[in-house]
Amino acid sequence: MKKADKVSDHIPVLLSDFSSLLPEVSGVWIDGTFGYGGYSRGLLNSGATKVIAIDMDPDVLSRAKDFEKKWPKKFKILAGNFCYMNELVANLGLKSVSGVILDVGISSMQVDYPSRGFSFKHDGPLDMRMSKKGASAKDLINKAKESLISEILLKYGEERYAKVIAKRIVEVRKEYPIDSTHKLASLIEQVLGTNQQHKIHPATRSFQAIRMAINNELPNLIRGLASATELLEMGGLLAVITFHSLEDRIVKRFFNLRTKSSNTLDEIKRIGGNSEPIFKKVNKRPVIPNLQEISKNPRARSAKLRIVRKMKNEFIDLEPSSLGLPNISASLREFQCE
Ligand SMILES: C[S@@+](CC[C@H](N)C(=O)[O-])C[C@H]1O[C@@H](n2cnc3c(N)ncnc32)[C@H](O)[C@@H]1O
Repeated sequence: MKKADKVSDHIPVLLSDFSSLLPEVSGVWIDGTFGYGGYSRGLLNSGATKVIAIDMDPDVLSRAKDFEKKWPKKFKILAGNFCYMNELVANLGLKSVSGVILDVGISSMQVDYPSRGFSFKHDGPLDMRMSKKGASAKDLINKAKESLISEILLKYGEERYAKVIAKRIVEVRKEYPIDSTHKLASLIEQVLGTNQQHKIHPATRSFQAIRMAINNELPNLIRGLASATELLEMGGLLAVITFHSLEDRIVKRFFNLRTKSSNTLDEIKRIGGNSEPIFKKVNKRPVIPNLQEISKNPRARSAKLRIVRKMKNEFIDLEPSSLGLPNISASLREFQCE
């Protein structure tokens, strides 16, 4: 990655609210989404004995190595997907941890480096892979069936014009490869029209949907919540920051299903017959950024922070659709990065 590529630095979202809710932390914590390290640093400064950080993006590793130099006994970075945090941590000989933080989605660094291909604001290769391995957005857009593209835009992006956009993508790719972020963004702009009073750029929903699809973000989130729950000691804390309504719905349902002591019959059936609470909520309502944070960092505007404490040592596998995971055709698998 070229330095000249860089546009702005990452600002940790809702970190001060997290610190107000949990002014002192202790024990070993997992930061499952290291990014620029804002939460790892916050945890180390608030009393964590050790932070084990995970990130699937190889570009964060040099920054993480600086943390390892600064805190040689208290910080460790592991490259990988947080949905496998149990196995990653087991390799270090750890059976349980005191807390897990997941600040999901992409970082400002990833959006701001045009070469990563996440943004329609700066032209770059149509890539969008957090892990930089496997199939990219270019593969999906240029090879997938029209019906799969349309399904992704509709279900992950809640894009009303999903069908029209997918149809146009398939027409255009017969003429030339759609291999850059600007080519895709201008195609969408042409379909939706530039004279509409869009509050957001017309390509926003489609880009978000494609990114979520190729990085398998929602299924990873569900597996990450399950792994974290299993790994937490009794009384351990699980904090999740989301940026998208589909992500927050998953976290909310996961925490709600496991926090109520008197589930309805329907809920008991959905969660497999267990009505005992596993979690206690630390904050009853999700924490959202205040106006000051939003004015400093507009990308924080849709963030939501939920924290729970584990009260019971038991976990039952949940049906992902009961958490609100959209059901997308299995053919998506061949267009997902590793
Ligand atoms: C919003 S940023 C985190 C920012 C970080 N909390 C900070 O304060 O700097 C999300 C980071 O998580 C990583 N990430 C997203 N999903 C992941 C997953 N399933 N496994 C591992 N890393 C993931 C991304 O590569 C990105 O670096």
